[in-house]
Amino acid sequence: SSLTIGLIPADGIGREVIPAAKEAILAVQSELPPVKFIDLLAGWDTFTRTGTALPSETVQILKDECDCALFGSVSSPSRKVAGYSSPIVALRKELDLYANIRPVVSVSADTTAPPAVDLIVVRENTECLYVKEETLTQTERGKEARATRLITERASTRIGKIAFELAKARPRKLLHIIHKSNVLSVTDGLFRESVRAVPAASDGQFDQVDIQEQLVDSAVYRLFREPEIFDVMVAPNLYGDIISDAAAALVGSLGVIPSINAGDDFVMGEPVHGSAPDIAGKGIANPIASIRSAALMLRHLGYTSPADKIDEAVNETLAPAQVLTADLGGKSSTSQVTAHVMGLLQKK
Ligand code: NAI
Ligand code: MG
Repeated sequence: SSLTIGLIPADGIGREVIPAAKEAILAVQSELPPVKFIDLLAGWDTFTRTGTALPSETVQILKDECDCALFGSVSSPSRKVAGYSSPIVALRKELDLYANIRPVVSVSADTTAPPAVDLIVVRENTECLYVKEETLTQTERGKEARATRLITERASTRIGKIAFELAKARPRKLLHIIHKSNVLSVTDGLFRESVRAVPAASDGQFDQVDIQEQLVDSAVYRLFREPEIFDVMVAPNLYGDIISDAAAALVGSLGVIPSINAGDDFVMGEPVHGSAPDIAGKGIANPIASIRSAALMLRHLGYTSPADKIDEAVNETLAPAQVLTADLGGKSSTSQVTAHVMGLLQKK
């Protein structure tokens, strides 16, 4: 067998950090089947050159030839641009990558103490407001904009199941369902009920999981006040997006938070951050989110030992805090941090 990995750096710092993720995989390749990389196009830059942000060839090669993929970040404009739509949102739908799994873990110099923050945000990845059905109408009272928020029992149940599985495998076995069903009792109500119904339909396999709930606004409040109370958090798409960026602030930077977009038969690693136009092209982006995304992807595919090695090399870089990029208060460049992690990895 072999392991074929699609590489989609896309825009901005995606192009600077995805090469670091590739290097990390190459550094552990002796523990993997023969690895092959395929470079693929997507993003704003691709759109401006070809008129499409996600060429059909990219999707076809991912489906036909790749076992998994790594995605960098896209620069999506905040205004409406005719013909453009975000390729990452489209890819998640096209490949049915319905679970966005985002671990947020703090690393301290005292490696014997448990991390202060150690949680996973499990974000539904295919619906909610991200179905992007928006309309704008002109009325006598002025413009009116509307958006559809789709929540289905099927998608809520399958993301719930992933969340229960993750919670079950962790020491604390604690799951918080994040919602706002005090206000949105129909949509968030369906999400909440569907997730809650998972254990009853699962032959007792989730009996040990402690189920808690938290309204999304107070969940963010508690996340900042007492992050240690959270273990696994499951949320509809938009809340999950916001909570995971917020949680990133607790551990220093968005530049260290990895994710995978997982479906039943494909997985795509992706740093949680965007294309960071404020620092793109300067060679100072933190590569750790991407390197960790590579590890998370390998772990999901069952390659536990190489994934552990990559994570250890990252932690051994973060804990002494000597070779860090500027977002973590350091002075090192992307390539210096990458080289440092690879140096540690080579010794494993
Ligand atoms: P962003 O995540 O790109 O940047 C937010 C802040 O974090 C910036 O100050 C940036 O410099 C910093 N940052 C992010 N990643 C970093 C890293 N690896 N190292 C050091 N610093 C880092 O979010 P922003 O500015 O809201 O969005 C910029 C663009 O990215 C937009 O066009 C947005 O649409 C896109 N975006 C794309 C995503 C994706 O591809 N999945 C996700 C989020 C945003
Ligand atoms: Mg986001």
